[in-house]
Amino acid sequence: MRCAVACSEIPFFDLTGQQAALHDEISAAIDAVLRKAAFTGGPFVEEFENGFADFLGARHFAGVSSGSDALFLALSAMGIGEGDEVIVPANTFVATAFAVSRLGAVPVFADCDALTWQMDPASVESRITGKTRAMIGVHLYGQAFPVDDLKRLAKQYGLFLLEDCAQSQGTVYRGKTVGTLSDAGCFSFYPSKNLGACGQAGGVASADDELDQTIRILRSQGSREPYVHEQTGYNMRLDGIQAAVLSVKLRYLQKWNRQRAETVRRYREEISNPLIQFQGELADTVPAWYLAVVCVPDRQSFMEYMEKKGIRCGCHYPVPCHLQPAYRSLGYRSGELPNAEFLAEHCVSLPLFPELSEEEMDRVIKACNAYSGEV
Ligand SMILES: Cc1ncc(COP(=O)(O)O)c(C=O)c1O
Repeated sequence: MRCAVACSEIPFFDLTGQQAALHDEISAAIDAVLRKAAFTGGPFVEEFENGFADFLGARHFAGVSSGSDALFLALSAMGIGEGDEVIVPANTFVATAFAVSRLGAVPVFADCDALTWQMDPASVESRITGKTRAMIGVHLYGQAFPVDDLKRLAKQYGLFLLEDCAQSQGTVYRGKTVGTLSDAGCFSFYPSKNLGACGQAGGVASADDELDQTIRILRSQGSREPYVHEQTGYNMRLDGIQAAVLSVKLRYLQKWNRQRAETVRRYREEISNPLIQFQGELADTVPAWYLAVVCVPDRQSFMEYMEKKGIRCGCHYPVPCHLQPAYRSLGYRSGELPNAEFLAEHCVSLPLFPELSEEEMDRVIKACNAYSGEV
């Protein structure tokens, strides 16, 4: 059960209901790991890796320590490093770009499409130089980016294409699950994701035997057999407890995705207010909604208005990556990537999680429809 205080307040996100419902199953799964002391690698990691690979329809899935590390290891296994450029969206969680920076490579930021808010292939193409080695598309908020267009660019310019699937566990694009459509699909299982661990976890899907093997070696101190280190590696393994928790939760992922989809369907169909603009949907996509983001003319006043109605909203993300202080040295200026900057200034995330009740959805919809621009 969520929130004993009869909940006049609607949270933006709440994990306690899911945890309570699965408490016994998760506790039993953790207990099994403790009894076997299988904390790194071993049967629980393998079971989850196989289960998630089946879920995706992927040839390989290597579990690692986080979504950030999944991106880092995939780029690393592709040989990306110092002096290389990797094109990433400006409107993403900054971890997408940080994975590039950690390798000594340079993230080059592309603008998004004004309607779908996904990375714009024309903006990507205009940023390709002789140093470009890869592109990372982010399936933003649970919708897909235009994979076919980016695949065409990848082929034309001889670049790697990676999918950042941190926000899209189960999204289907043209009949295939995202994460299986490019050279590597990188997943985060951060607790708030549609499939979230009870701590940090991530993984990489791929169809390439050699790439998968390299990622497995890199995640484990550069070794495939104990104390023989073929190359400089890292400690970025998926731990057994997180894998066991994820195997339990994976059984519910499709149900939770359907519940999230129902909420978003209601928001999109029943919120009718010219001040509130929804994300455009890409054709041939079945989203696995992670966030229900809308654009409003004045975010601060909208959030204050919703707050007064007892409805908490989120904001993903208020500062685009190219204008983050961490990237000041790259020299981007305000106005350079106008669509991403518009989104950063106007986006608001409405409450979305599987356990949101019909009454709570009704309240969100009613409040949105009554919004006039005044607090
Ligand atoms: C788009 C995107 N990429 C990467 C990450 C990083 O994942 P993690 O937090 O598991 O390192 C996140 C997570 O929040 C994300 O939303």
